[in-house]
Amino acid sequence: MTANELRRKYIDFFIARGHAEISGKSLIPENDPTVLFTTAGMHPLVPYLLGQDHPAGSRLTDVQKCIRTGDIESVGDASHLTFFEMLGNWSLRDYFKKEALSWSYEFLTSPEYLGLEVDRISVTVFAGDEDAPFDQESYDAWLALGIPAERIYKLPKADNWWGPAGQTGPCGPDSEMFYDTGIDSCGEDCRPGCHCGKYFEIWNNVFMQYDKQADGSFLPLAKPCVDTGMGVERTITMLQGQKNVYETELFVPLLDIIASISGHSYQESADTTQSFRVIADHVKTATMILGDETGVKPSNLGQGYILRRLIRRAVRHGLKLGIEEDFLGQVADGVIALYKGVYDELSDRRDTIISELALEEAQFRKTLEHGHKEFDKLLPNLLRNPKKIISGKVSFRLYDTYGFPVELTEELAAEHGLTVDREGFDEAFKKHQEASKKGADKTFKGGLADDSEMSMKYHTATHLLHEALRQVLGDHVAQKGSNITAERLRFDFVHPEPMTPEQKKAVEDLVNAQIEAKLPVTMTTMTLQEARDLGARALFEGKYDEQVKVYRIGEFSTEVCGGPHVESLEGMGMFKIKKEQSSSRGVRRIRAVLTA
Ligand code: ALA
Repeated sequence: MTANELRRKYIDFFIARGHAEISGKSLIPENDPTVLFTTAGMHPLVPYLLGQDHPAGSRLTDVQKCIRTGDIESVGDASHLTFFEMLGNWSLRDYFKKEALSWSYEFLTSPEYLGLEVDRISVTVFAGDEDAPFDQESYDAWLALGIPAERIYKLPKADNWWGPAGQTGPCGPDSEMFYDTGIDSCGEDCRPGCHCGKYFEIWNNVFMQYDKQADGSFLPLAKPCVDTGMGVERTITMLQGQKNVYETELFVPLLDIIASISGHSYQESADTTQSFRVIADHVKTATMILGDETGVKPSNLGQGYILRRLIRRAVRHGLKLGIEEDFLGQVADGVIALYKGVYDELSDRRDTIISELALEEAQFRKTLEHGHKEFDKLLPNLLRNPKKIISGKVSFRLYDTYGFPVELTEELAAEHGLTVDREGFDEAFKKHQEASKKGADKTFKGGLADDSEMSMKYHTATHLLHEALRQVLGDHVAQKGSNITAERLRFDFVHPEPMTPEQKKAVEDLVNAQIEAKLPVTMTTMTLQEARDLGARALFEGKYDEQVKVYRIGEFSTEVCGGPHVESLEGMGMFKIKKEQSSSRGVRRIRAVLTA
């Protein structure tokens, strides 16, 4: 069975059982500041799982693109992927455990559907603890369906509990289905959930019975829901009689492309196998992110940073295979072809995908080249060190100043009989992170180095500027940074090209018009969710229920912000843009002043 057939069969099976097919959503969660990517099929459905009615009804089914990057270092083994597709069916306060499990069983085993061998299926149910009791109902349902007791495993929360996606929200016990790959068990303790490769998890049914509160307690939901997820890649692996996800139709064409570019074969050695897998996985995920309608680009922040990391790791594994020319675009074309008819947004956005990959790849290769040169300059000195160790300070400088990954420093070091003080590097890295985090916290509290009257004026002017830029240039304008002193404001924002003199003038005029209107500045405290509902601009991630301050300037601007601000625009002076320049790729920087 092909992945296409699997997707269709699944959806049709549930449509025949009263479900409405809904479309999968973007990979970038909407209105959820707690995670970077859509991590499961249930993610876009959280509001409905929590109680809202869904316009399509109480039984839903779909295919959802998902990304999980928590395990990025494990990519390359038999089952870890950063991008995967999840098939799901949902009951919104409609059917519950018995129906859900019997449909799962029927879909898995009926010859009309997947026709998997009953004897190779094992299932798990929640064993119970102080938060919630043993899931007797699921246990009984599996027994009644014909799964023998010895293949129904009772496991603790670590294995059999789902969610919530963020800190709070819908969650509950789950029941997972595993297929025996046929390899020998790794020992007496081997059971579903073991990573030796014997038990392949293909489906999870979550019974959302609780709403986890901010204080960690679990409130029972009056009407529980069912959330399920069947992994397309894993299920296909079993259906196609393979032992790992890479040896299926969803990866083989990509491995072939990598083989023809590199001149190596996939299974030449453990190292080549790993590099092939990492490249295939990472380029697929990068292509999916770039192909998503949200238009994320490589950057040093949030989703863009993950995208950058994926691309750079792929380039590095390419280097390990001896690929020194830009090649990601060729692999991406393979991804686009693989998902034709399934994710057509990839073909639609092909030009962007290919050009962004090329840009980032070329930039990274340059970075690597600089790093190499710098390393070569340092080398004579390094070789004089009797201990043959490169200090954490030096390796961190290569990383920090030249973007040179420490793993590469280690590789180069090894070529010259040197080692890197990795602990020292990690320490320097941590110190640096803490310092930049502190910097970020400070910005969050208001972006003000001091709270003199003049700085407050500049702070308020920054809000005016932000709104004016959006009105003049468009909604893509997003704040990337702000720096205020008593002498000027500096504002970084997303915009692809230099502003024209006319645009600068229009922005100045718009800001000055507000100042002339002497608009009042008011502050209200509310939850982040309420602020978002109001349409407030919120730059920083936080929890929905977190209390935030919202500053409004008349009807002109509404922003979540720590303050402080002036109380009225009266007497702010004339706003003037002094300089508009590039700050980094796709980001512009404005310096502006207020004059009397
Ligand atoms: N939300 C559940 C999962 O992703 C079904 O495993």
